[in-house]
Amino acid sequence: MFIKDSIFLEGDHMSLNERVNLTEIVAMDKNRVIGRNGDLPWAGRLRSDMDHFKRTTEGHTVGLGRKTYDSIPEKFRPLLKRENVVITRDLEFKAPGCVVIHDPNVLIRMSIEKEIFIIGGAEIYKIFLPLTERLIVTHVETEITDGDTFFPELNRSEWRQKLLFRQEADAKNAFSFSVLEYIRIIEM
Ligand SMILES: NC(=O)c1ccc[n+]([C@@H]2O[C@H](COP(=O)([O-])OP(=O)(O)OC[C@H]3O[C@@H](n4cnc5c(N)ncnc54)[C@H](OP(=O)(O)O)[C@@H]3O)[C@@H](O)[C@H]2O)c1
Repeated sequence: MFIKDSIFLEGDHMSLNERVNLTEIVAMDKNRVIGRNGDLPWAGRLRSDMDHFKRTTEGHTVGLGRKTYDSIPEKFRPLLKRENVVITRDLEFKAPGCVVIHDPNVLIRMSIEKEIFIIGGAEIYKIFLPLTERLIVTHVETEITDGDTFFPELNRSEWRQKLLFRQEADAKNAFSFSVLEYIRIIEM
């Protein structure tokens, strides 16, 4: 997607014609729930989705909000084989082995050079969604009644969808799910 008149340009000097390359990768329930009490509602119970997330993001740069960074157990961060970019307003924040940034523009600028995977959470998905051309969505076939964090509502007519794969519930996957790729067909 080309940078047009977005909020990101404020005080920055990016050309209006630069092409950015952002992919948001997310798992949500039937009502767009992505989180509960600072964690994934299905934490540790959707093994095949975790494997898919690893396969898809390894070798790339991932952008994540500070709260999502905090939600990752210490022994698993930074996420291995990926450049981890943590976004926070806290100028003192330390995340060993990660790049810490304080302005979403920095990630936008990085995405002119290479594909960046936005891995959450809700605040961060919302910030980058207007500039995102591709989503990889795990639709988890459940309804989390006490979820507290949601993916933004999507206007389905703006996106072309393609099924990547489906997983039935089994011993390692508490719920069935389908993974879809969404490609934006109407630029904002
Ligand atoms: N299902 C999924 O695929 C998925 C994926 C990821 C996360 N999650 C879940 O989502 C939840 C966390 O999401 P969340 O929305 O609460 O938090 P988040 O998006 O992970 O992080 C929010 C934080 O990002 C920083 N931030 C936001 N806007 C900023 C800006 N403009 N400039 C600089 N920093 C900025 C702030 O950090 P500071 O407060 O440090 O300033 C803010 O508190 C958890 O439950 C997690 O498990 C689910």
